[in-house]
Order: sequence, then structure tokens, then C-alpha cells
Amino acid sequence: MRNRFKGKVALVVGGANADEDKLLGFSGLSALIMARDGASVVIADIDDKTGTQSVEKMNNMGLTANYLHLDVTSEEDWKSAVNFTVSTYGKLDIMIMGAGIGEASAIKIGNIDVDEWRRVVDVTNLGMFLGVRSVVNQMKNSGGGSIVLVSSMMAKVVREEGLNAYATSRAGMTHFARSAAVEYGPDNIRVNSILPGWTYTPFTAKKFTREWMNQMVKRIPLRRVAKADDIAEGILFLASDESRYVTGSELLIDGGVTAWIGPTA
Ligand SMILES: NC(=O)c1ccc[n+]([C@@H]2O[C@H](COP(=O)([O-])OP(=O)(O)OC[C@H]3O[C@@H](n4cnc5c(N)ncnc54)[C@H](O)[C@@H]3O)[C@@H](O)[C@H]2O)c1
Repeated sequence: MRNRFKGKVALVVGGANADEDKLLGFSGLSALIMARDGASVVIADIDDKTGTQSVEKMNNMGLTANYLHLDVTSEEDWKSAVNFTVSTYGKLDIMIMGAGIGEASAIKIGNIDVDEWRRVVDVTNLGMFLGVRSVVNQMKNSGGGSIVLVSSMMAKVVREEGLNAYATSRAGMTHFARSAAVEYGPDNIRVNSILPGWTYTPFTAKKFTREWMNQMVKRIPLRRVAKADDIAEGILFLASDESRYVTGSELLIDGGVTAWIGPTA
């Protein structure tokens, strides 16, 4: 226990995968580490079963954590989560928006179903907008706060055809973070985005077969796919006071993938 988050109250959205005996998500791991380092944590997600189990385990370890159902596209759910957090813990210092989905399968722009495109963009972009909108007044009332939006290296580069909604919405997220940082800097609210590269988590476990990873590591200068803790370290830096002068920035954690055009043929 480092006490890095002692006295802080954090809302971690998309953090259901916070059980270290199972495959961790990086928002879930961030929630677990913050609670271990002294924070009171509210995890919110649509995966109620996993989220409830993770929080039960955290409580059994003596950590202060709650689970709530929250669909990021619902303004009502955001309002309830913020009300719950503030009425239970008295304030809200940190919000991590880590909820996300991608296209069910890669489909080019000309063929993707409009509702499918809208669904991906809504979860990412409507979700981040409603999230920031729901927390800023509370943060302002308690003297400031830190918001971390989980984007992707796909905000920078196009990896493959057929993931246009995912890539577009992730790029929108990084720019939204800058815009929100400018609007709320005078209120001491920092807003940053994090851009993870390929990371083995519940989000990718089906796609990242051993065969797939053996192929892809050739394109990663650090020669390995990331683990949840590689990304959580960056989220925790942005969430904590250690990054007190950082706002409107993008933290890219991709093992060097986007620095490189790729191996010579
Ligand atoms: N794993 C990677 O390689 C990678 C790379 C770049 C970006 N990302 C992004 O990082 C974020 C976290 O992913 P992760 O890898 O830690 O996996 P994860 O599966 O642990 O996290 C994603 C969570 O979002 C939740 N979610 C989905 N739709 C939701 C909604 N409408 N409302 C609330 N919650 C919802 C899921 O239930 C899940 O718990 C995602 O946004 C993902 O797109 C992942």
C-alpha cells in the first residue's frame, strides 16, 4: 500500500474486470490498485455479474469499493452513479472512462450497417460526453479533479480495414479531452486521454490467439503484446496528483507500434 490515492474518491467506468485471479482489464486493474492505495472506488459497468464479483472480492480484502450498473449511453445512469458516489463518499476526485466496444466484425464503410456504426460511436463518444458532463460540476465543487478517457493507438493510425467506427470514435475522444481540458482547466479539473496499444485483456482475449500474437509481435518494437498493468500504470499516473500539471495531453503506451512503419518485407 503506497497511499498514493489516500482520501481520493474514484468512479471507474468499464472497470468490471478487477479480479486479479482472472484476466484483468486495465480500467479494472486501475480500480483495484487505487483501492489498495487508499481510494474509495465505485466501479460501474454493464457487466453486472463480473463487476459484482470483483467488488465482493475487493471488499473481502478490506478495500472500499462498490459496484453500480451504468450504461455509458444513458444520462440517467451517469447521474445516478455520480449521486451515489457523492452521497456515499462526499465528493468525486477521479473519473476513468474505460468503457468501450468495437465493430462486431471488420466491415468496410460501404457495407457497415448504420446502426452498428452508431452503436460503436455512441458508446465511445456519447459515453465520454455524458460522463464528463455528469462529473465536472461535482469536481468543481470539491476544488478540482482528474478525468482519464481511455482511447486507443487507433486514434493515431489505421491498423486494418473495417474498423472505421472504432478508429474514428477513438480519435474523437482524444480531441474531446483537449477541448474539455481547455474548458475546465480554470476549475482545476484535468482531462487527459490514454492511447493503449495491443493489450491482452478480456476485450481482446478471443482475437489475440497465440498464433495472432506471434505474428503481431514482429510489428512491435518492444516485441511483446502489453498486459493490463503496462497500461494501468499510465492511467494511474494521469489519475493521481503526480500528473498535476498535465492536462489536454495524450499518453501513448503502445510498445512503439505507431512509431514504426513496420518490418521490411
Ligand atoms: N485491450 C486492448 O488491446 C485495447 C487497446 C486500445 C484500447 N482499448 C480500449 O480500452 C478500454 C478498456 O478495455 P480493456 O482492454 O481493459 O477491456 P475490458 O473488457 O476489461 O473493458 C471494457 C469494459 O467496457 C464495458 N462496457 C462495454 N459497453 C459498455 C457500456 N455501454 N456501458 C458501460 N460499460 C460498457 C465492458 O463490459 C467491459 O467491462 C476499452 O474502451 C477498449 O476499447 C483496449
